[in-house]
Amino acid sequence: MISWDQDADGIVTLTMDDPTQRANTMNELFRDSLAVTVTRLRAARDEITGVVVTSAKSTFFAGGDLRLLSQVTEDNASEFSAAVEGMKAQLRSLETLGRPVVAALNGTALGGGLEIALACHHRIAVNDGNARFGLPEVTLGLLPGGGGVTRVTRLLGLQDGLMKVLLQGQRLRPAQAKEIGLIDELVNDLDELRAAARRWILANPDAAQPWDRKGFTIPGGTPADASLAAMLPVFPASLRKQLKGAPMPAPHHIMCAAVEGSQVDIDNALKIEGRYFLDLARGQVAKNMIQAFWFDLNSINAGGSRPAGHQPRPATRVAVVGAGMMGAGIAYVAARNGIDVVLKDVDVQAAEKGKDYSRRLLDKAFSRGTITEAARDEVLARITPTADYAELRGCDLVVEAVFEKVSLKHEVFGELEPAVAADALLGSNTSTLPITALASGVKRQQDFIGLHFFSPVDRMPLLEIIRGEQTSDEALARALDFAQQIGKTPIVVNDSRGFFTSRVIGTFVNEALAMLGEGIAPATIEQATTQAGYPVGALQLTDELNLELLVKIRNESRAAVEDAGGRYPAHPGEAVIDRMVELGRPGRLRGKGFFDYGEDGKRSGLWPGLATEFPVAGDPSLVDLTEVQERMLFAEAVETARCVAEGVLTTTADANIGSIMGIGFPAWTGGVLQYINSYHGSEGRSGLPGFVARADELAASHGERFAPNALLRAMAADGERF
Ligand code: NAI
Repeated sequence: MISWDQDADGIVTLTMDDPTQRANTMNELFRDSLAVTVTRLRAARDEITGVVVTSAKSTFFAGGDLRLLSQVTEDNASEFSAAVEGMKAQLRSLETLGRPVVAALNGTALGGGLEIALACHHRIAVNDGNARFGLPEVTLGLLPGGGGVTRVTRLLGLQDGLMKVLLQGQRLRPAQAKEIGLIDELVNDLDELRAAARRWILANPDAAQPWDRKGFTIPGGTPADASLAAMLPVFPASLRKQLKGAPMPAPHHIMCAAVEGSQVDIDNALKIEGRYFLDLARGQVAKNMIQAFWFDLNSINAGGSRPAGHQPRPATRVAVVGAGMMGAGIAYVAARNGIDVVLKDVDVQAAEKGKDYSRRLLDKAFSRGTITEAARDEVLARITPTADYAELRGCDLVVEAVFEKVSLKHEVFGELEPAVAADALLGSNTSTLPITALASGVKRQQDFIGLHFFSPVDRMPLLEIIRGEQTSDEALARALDFAQQIGKTPIVVNDSRGFFTSRVIGTFVNEALAMLGEGIAPATIEQATTQAGYPVGALQLTDELNLELLVKIRNESRAAVEDAGGRYPAHPGEAVIDRMVELGRPGRLRGKGFFDYGEDGKRSGLWPGLATEFPVAGDPSLVDLTEVQERMLFAEAVETARCVAEGVLTTTADANIGSIMGIGFPAWTGGVLQYINSYHGSEGRSGLPGFVARADELAASHGERFAPNALLRAMAADGERF
């Protein structure tokens, strides 16, 4: 897997090319080849001038072997650790060879790939728009355990190493990586790369790592220095701010490995890093996050749900109808991704206002230097605001984003359908209305589909695609292609009121409000929510969603269920919603909700009136925080299992990714179905059967809404998992 090519000057080029995979990873084959290669380098040292490490793949190196990593258990932990330590020893041997070693980065080097490069004396990269560099391990619940923590802190210093690289886990573009100091040199192409590597080797015959030179000190100092010692408390404080108490061990372990490692020599630092790494690899959180953010996400992004046999048909001209909050955001994202947009509202002023939103975002990007003036103007020029349906001619894809009202949406589609291209994909951004019923308002029902974006559209990565009963495979394929075109992660669900995401988040909100009504202190609810790993407190989120909207959705759902002869189940959270609306406190939009808001819309604090409206019962310090958290997590999980049983959800990956990226289900769980799979409760209740037992207990004390469905019970009985 590592080929050896020695030229007349004694420069050895090592080219990594795993014949068994598309990209190089730190698998057994690599580890064995590295050991053989380093032994050979040591033996041939006297005939060697220097070493270039590069790759024959389109990327340099993909990273650690995540399949292997996700299989580490208590039983095989020591074997795993020995393999990792062995590989680290080889990299250490390479960097102390006594000959210059250059990493010639022909493409992306993430995680383990960048760790190999960090063990080289000099890093040169091709300035390719697709290449990314960084140590994203933290986003998978891990730490860079191939020497990454140790070398980055020695290269950049503790503060920058931690704050800019290790705790962020960003995938940096070449120029950003160079600016931070992870890359030393950028070149334009592969020829220049080879030449620059040679040049550097010939000019630096005595190359060694800074940390192997006499008198080396870590840039910015170590905790033994007064200046850095004064900074030290800032690290855990900023970590707490970032995590808000969520049970994610990786950032904490990274910080400990970096700080402790900075106080000893490199060899001991590598050992410390190894111990923290092994602890994470053995744990459940890393397994959950690898499953969600690697395996699930990759299967979705590889087009797992795209029906076969349909040619890609990229959208060229998109009609966005309704230029309000969502329409404006959708127009921006489409234009930013090179698509022409016609933005239609009831009058030109409203449409222009929608376009102004893009102008503001683009101006901000320009002032930050992330976009050129010409690119900004080009993106803006792609958006045509209008009040005239005639402007929609030639549009091959529609996203309707007018008010959430069936009759209005029918009217709008009735007018736009004859105006757009005869085979245009007809998408609605409704957040709750069943797609099949909406489709009854158009002629080409097979081309009608739900395209549910999340707010704010430019920042939320998810697109929930909803198939109505009549939606064709071709329409679904086109919707998935559109998601890819605009850089969104798509999940595909079948029709249901509220689909998957809106339906499940509704149960979360209702449960939090039920607890408020029972007398659990609002501050306790907020704290419990963020400590469970949700991005914001439940009451804060409810304020964002807007209580009046929730009442409207509930009334429509009830009417639909009752019209169909069913019984709409009441929820104790509803009384709290109704009371807040009655009090004129529907949420952030009106500047009043569970929180107070200043003139500028900034949240100032919990509304003091909550104390009299929803008096706290009992001593807040005696509240069982775990139960508060489980009521929210279980409400969502039980409802998700119903979505699976009803066929709304068809893949586990869609449920897991949709829950984390769309509705803020805690990332450490690996998503809502993985939470059920890996449930770990008190009294030894664990796994899916433990989840079912606990759900039964919650149902007995809080209501039938927690009762596990037949699917969950059958899976528990058969020892199955999602
Ligand atoms: P909004 O109230 O900000 O905007 C609606 C826009 O539609 C207004 O600018 C209005 O003038 C325009 N409009 C009304 N009738 C029209 C017509 N006949 N022709 C053209 N434009 C017309 O509403 P928002 O929040 O943008 O929501 C739009 C849709 O997106 C709704 O269906 C909503 O349920 C859905 N949605 C909302 C989310 C949110 O977080 N607000 C999230 C996901 C979906």
